[in-house]
Amino acid sequence: MNILIIDSEKTTIDIIDFMLQKLITAKINTFHAYSGHEAAQLLLNQNIDLCISEYKLENGTGDLVYKHIKSKGIKAKFVLCSSEKPENLEGRFEGIYFSILKPNISEGLTALVAKLFDSKKKQIANTLDDKYIAIPLKLLVVLGSIPTDIYVKISPIKYLKCISENEHFSMIDHDKWIKNGVKNLYVQREFNVHSVFSPLNESLDELMKNKQVSSAEKLVKSHERLLGLVKFTGITQEVCETIVSNIKKSMGMIKDIRLVDDLWINLASKGDYLSNAYVLQFMLSSVLVEKMGWFSESTILKLSLAAFLQDVTLYTEKAINLYDYTHFKSLEHEFSPNEIENYMEHPINTKALLDNIKKIPADVDRLILEHHEQPRGDGFPRGLNSLQISPLTAVFILSGLLAKTILNEDKNFNLSNFLTRAQEQGYNSGNYKAVFKIIENMK
Ligand SMILES: [Fe+2]
Repeated sequence: MNILIIDSEKTTIDIIDFMLQKLITAKINTFHAYSGHEAAQLLLNQNIDLCISEYKLENGTGDLVYKHIKSKGIKAKFVLCSSEKPENLEGRFEGIYFSILKPNISEGLTALVAKLFDSKKKQIANTLDDKYIAIPLKLLVVLGSIPTDIYVKISPIKYLKCISENEHFSMIDHDKWIKNGVKNLYVQREFNVHSVFSPLNESLDELMKNKQVSSAEKLVKSHERLLGLVKFTGITQEVCETIVSNIKKSMGMIKDIRLVDDLWINLASKGDYLSNAYVLQFMLSSVLVEKMGWFSESTILKLSLAAFLQDVTLYTEKAINLYDYTHFKSLEHEFSPNEIENYMEHPINTKALLDNIKKIPADVDRLILEHHEQPRGDGFPRGLNSLQISPLTAVFILSGLLAKTILNEDKNFNLSNFLTRAQEQGYNSGNYKAVFKIIENMK
């Protein structure tokens, strides 16, 4: 099957291409076009079966491509993949085969492939999973109570009310559920998730002001709370604004923490692995950009926001603890096909989630998309080598790798050993070189 992907953004084309290769088991050839003119040439010269096009293109619009297909009698099926809905485009896309609404590219392509290959829709009769949303237990502890009933999931068709609205939820309740293997409770989907923002913000303010809590612990605890919020509400404009404002408040604190004295020695006892890893990466990348002479509030914000969000679509806990893709490959046999798929798609899925959020600083999406690339081009999703990633990505990747190594090796951590291993993998080449040297001088 020959598929033509048309978009003015190379990254978007790469993402669609990557996902199609994953979703379609039959052999496919993909062609890329960045403008309507290029598309028209390819449509005439290649035997295109499927054409996936954005509406806004360089020098024109996607409806001209669609018109071209119809007027020349080309057999290609046309799919609009845009943030514009075809029904809002004055009939220009009447009769098209399918449409995908950005940023939900992953969902849209899955549905497209199901339609193309006539897959039987997997429908579980009477499932109630759409009617409830999970709320992490830790978030419930922080909120104390919420103005809606809370349910426990017994099976996809059975949810039982276990806590009444406004009933207090304590750490003792949390521990009781955890002991019973329950990590999330549920609320009905119609619950207004916005109502949790104000109590959560208050709890964050209180935490930040608390003089009994060390700076490192404040950072870890606030990350845990915000991550609970992300898991509950998903990535929304409001969540991102809350995260950004929290990071801005944390920046002043970072300067007060002395890396060696305060941080990694006792970090393991302070919170969840993911929160510890985030805080450590936040600190290390701040130190690195400062030593490189790139220190600015906006650079730190980009790095820490990307560190916060990089793995939010990764649900496999053991995958979160991995150092990098090489580490993943060595353990791939331990993961289920779904876990592998989730891991391989998480940079793309997370980037796609952010595409619709306003005010996310530029470059954050690139840092996220590139955070599993490796110096020799054997990472994913795009196989970029040490010269093809951005210099800021190099800081991001190396600070993440160093943070995870420190956490995973704990008391056995040795910087010289880390550097030797990193060098063997090429982390001292191309755009990694300058950052590697800075870390070397930290010995
Ligand atoms: Fe990741």
